[in-house]
Amino acid sequence: MGLFGRNKQSAGLDIGSGFVKVVVVDHSGDQPEVSAVAMRPLVADAIVEGEVMDPGLVADTIRELFREIGLKGKNVIAAVGGHDVIIKKIEMDRMNESDAREVIRWEAEQHVPFDIKSVELDFQILDPLGEGLQMQVLLVAAKRELVDHKVSLLLDAGVSPGAIEVDAFALHNAFSYNHPEAMKGIVALVNIGHETTNVNILEDGNPLLTRDIPFGSRRVRQDLQREKGLTAEQAEDVVQGREQLDDLATLVASAADEVGVGIERASAFLMTRQDGGGLGSIYLSGGGARIPGMADALGNRMNLNTVLANPFEQVPVQPGASGSVNLEEAAPMLLLPLGLALRVV
Ligand SMILES: Nc1ncnc2c1ncn2[C@@H]1O[C@H](COP(=O)(O)OP(=O)(O)OP(=O)(O)O)[C@@H](O)[C@H]1O
Ligand SMILES: [Mg+2]
Repeated sequence: MGLFGRNKQSAGLDIGSGFVKVVVVDHSGDQPEVSAVAMRPLVADAIVEGEVMDPGLVADTIRELFREIGLKGKNVIAAVGGHDVIIKKIEMDRMNESDAREVIRWEAEQHVPFDIKSVELDFQILDPLGEGLQMQVLLVAAKRELVDHKVSLLLDAGVSPGAIEVDAFALHNAFSYNHPEAMKGIVALVNIGHETTNVNILEDGNPLLTRDIPFGSRRVRQDLQREKGLTAEQAEDVVQGREQLDDLATLVASAADEVGVGIERASAFLMTRQDGGGLGSIYLSGGGARIPGMADALGNRMNLNTVLANPFEQVPVQPGASGSVNLEEAAPMLLLPLGLALRVV
């Protein structure tokens, strides 16, 4: 602790393909509190399949966001994800964390399909209090190139990177902090973004599996344009619930079916387990979770209780922190950046 106590803020920056979002968390009090929120749409195709096609434009958007909240952009935590990040549960000989850090590169070599010299590794011991000879470790390997690109994007935007985190961990972190009731049994956290849906399956709060489905709100918008002859703007108004459309339900049901198939595939391994426990409920986040009728359609499709996750369930928002953002509407989209900002760097 410093001489003047803790006075720390972390800024979680989520560079999504639809919206760039920042959530600032103040860690100086007894519990973390949100001190600023801002978000801005990205021009179509600035980011495609997770790849930044127009770094200058994305950097400008980040710079504007920090200007809007009046912060210089210190301690910024951003996320990486997608195909070039491997998250795997492995077993290794039981040892303490610092010993494990020494040998993790060697252990990882057997599990990571990339050249081990070109990856950044991290891990978490899942059963630190266990007594067996072996321990369960969650191993993360991200291609170094991916991390380097993210760091240089932040530097181009004039902000200073405090850490780069894996997106699935940030979601998990924010989810477990806000929804302790979901840390029992098997649940799926499904983050439906603009381009990609991340599925996280948890058992008693521990991550069992994460998977990405190539589906997002953009597809619903495109379907609306093609099938209903709407312009992109009109279709986006329907997706965001500002305009109504009579037979939207049919289209949303088929979108929910696609997400449902993805969740079923991701959770198929549960069927082979001896104890026979299947998915108990679904929590939704991301802008796609706000498409009118989506949560109900997915709940019906899966025959499971399906509710929205709320990043501010247990994290108070300071007065005035939300700025121009309508928090009630945007909350599901802010789970990931909140998870990033919960980290103290
Ligand atoms: N009230 C809303 N405000 C903004 N976007 C909304 C709203 N309701 C639904 N959406 C949809 O959510 C999308 C953004 O969701 P989100 O921020 O989770 O995606 P992203 O992180 O940008 O995308 P990805 O993770 O796939 O790269 C928008 O493109 C929009 O279609
Ligand atoms: Mg996203």
